[in-house]
Amino acid sequence: MKALVLSGGSGTRLRPITHTAPKQLVPVANKPVLYYVLEDIAQAGVTEVGIVVGESAREIQEAVGDGSRFGLQVTYIRQEAPLGLAHAVLIAREFLGDDDFVMYLGDNFVVGGIADLVREFRTQRPDAQILLTRVPDPAAFGVAELGADGQVVSLEEKPQQPRSDLALVGVYLFSPAVHEAVRSIKPSWRGELEITHALQWLIDEHRDVRSTTIHGYWKDTGNVTDMLEVNRTALETVEARTHGVVDTDSEVIGRVRIEAGARIRGSRIVGPAVIGTGTLVSGSYIGPYTSIGDNCRVENGEIEFSIMLSDSRLEGVGRVHGSLIGRNVTVTPALHIPSTNRLILGDHSEVQIAS
Ligand code: G1P
Repeated sequence: MKALVLSGGSGTRLRPITHTAPKQLVPVANKPVLYYVLEDIAQAGVTEVGIVVGESAREIQEAVGDGSRFGLQVTYIRQEAPLGLAHAVLIAREFLGDDDFVMYLGDNFVVGGIADLVREFRTQRPDAQILLTRVPDPAAFGVAELGADGQVVSLEEKPQQPRSDLALVGVYLFSPAVHEAVRSIKPSWRGELEITHALQWLIDEHRDVRSTTIHGYWKDTGNVTDMLEVNRTALETVEARTHGVVDTDSEVIGRVRIEAGARIRGSRIVGPAVIGTGTLVSGSYIGPYTSIGDNCRVENGEIEFSIMLSDSRLEGVGRVHGSLIGRNVTVTPALHIPSTNRLILGDHSEVQIAS
């Protein structure tokens, strides 16, 4: 069994964060989403992984390398344009050979991993197995309609009138039967070869397509609330450990991971939380469900239920809650009278100010 990880796409829905980094590398609990994907694959006992890359190929290759760090052997497959998930299968034909494979979208986060699912597929060997989850906004996904006995009756990509609230999760298991399917379908209205159509083709050919419904799933939606939510979920599994230096005037409560080179001075940290390498937290409060990236400075500040990416500063500012702060961002108080709000924000930024 092999794995195919899709890491193309431009991530427009996660702007401004994705202006400078591909969406698969957006960190959750200080770890890129793509790393969770690769760890899930390794944990399922699959070692040969093809990563389909697009315009962000360089960043992805720099972050993942040859995969040995994850116990994987990674082959990169270049997709010249984002022509769809089924197109990715088409161009990976040589890598995939005649093996079964799990296809995992590099921007999806599945709580609990995929080991059970892969085991089930390996023993039962249907032609394809899909994962479904109930979502409030099915029109933003591929949507499945199930028959009375639970078999997949139909699949539609981003339907205007969804027939159910069961969305396709970005993890699919395939036997080599999918290759004929991806060769047989035509591009959709958005000009892409849809994997949803390939699955529908298999259903129409009376092949065995099964589904499993899961709970605990996230995909980028451009919705910061979702990102904070997945960060919260990921932090629930963080192991408490202190590799950094915490002085005697500080208090660390609950599950908090403090990375090497981080310094905590005169501060209170209430977990679950992670503090990145080289970060300084001084005279501050870090509240639950907060991820502070590498080389940040939080001084005389208060932040909770938030994500702060690397190399950013929060100084002299309190009550930051439910926020997503990008890289190299500076948040400080306005020092001069009149006390105004001074904002220098990148494209697609969003600010809410307590008045
Ligand atoms: C793709 C699939 C869609 C699926 C989704 C899950 O959508 O086409 O069926 O529900 O991934 O992440 P896209 O991310 O291309 O909009």
